[in-house]
Amino acid sequence: MSSATIGPIDSRQFRTCCGRFTTGITVVTTKVDDTVHGMTANGFMSVSLEPPLIAISLGHNTRLHQFMPQSMRYGISILDESQLAISNHFAGRPDDTLKIPFIEKVGMPLLDGALAHLVARVVDAHEAGDHTLYIAEVEYLNYADGRPLVYYAGGYNQLKADPKPEHMSWFDNEVFFFPVSDF
Ligand SMILES: Cc1cc2nc3c(=O)[nH]c(=O)nc-3n(C[C@H](O)[C@H](O)[C@H](O)COP(=O)(O)O)c2cc1C
Repeated sequence: MSSATIGPIDSRQFRTCCGRFTTGITVVTTKVDDTVHGMTANGFMSVSLEPPLIAISLGHNTRLHQFMPQSMRYGISILDESQLAISNHFAGRPDDTLKIPFIEKVGMPLLDGALAHLVARVVDAHEAGDHTLYIAEVEYLNYADGRPLVYYAGGYNQLKADPKPEHMSWFDNEVFFFPVSDF
């Protein structure tokens, strides 16, 4: 099935169209007055290498957006495929039976067992429609090999092929992803 629209864009169709862009899933965390807040988000991107900047997009109706002006720092945990229940928990479907494996790095709570962690300090905020983009400079990172939790067309998914991070190369601030067959 395919669908095309010219002119006023219906928000449901807009969401469905953008859902064709496959992403990983993160849980964004922050801490205010010793209280930890977490939220599932795939509106995450790397922005700049020098300095190392990342961005998240927070809806104005989310609690994290309310807390951000106070904390001005956030953590990103890029979820492993085994962490689907954690993604649901932080996406407005809390499960009180779930044990949340928080760890803390440079004063920021992060989720243990995630594929990668970043902690960043907000350097810029841009209001954009019903969301705000929070651009932040990275202060801490770590990562491991593994299998990510994937999101596509409004549903969770998994990588079919084995992830091969050693086939990534960096040249002149550009990232080239070579097909495995080129090696
Ligand atoms: C896969 C997925 C990705 C999401 N990405 C975002 C996002 O990038 N930004 C956002 O504001 N909400 C996003 N959400 C919605 C929030 O996780 C959800 O509204 C959450 O309940 C908000 O937190 P709060 O209940 O503490 O306010 C996403 C939800 C899911 C399931």
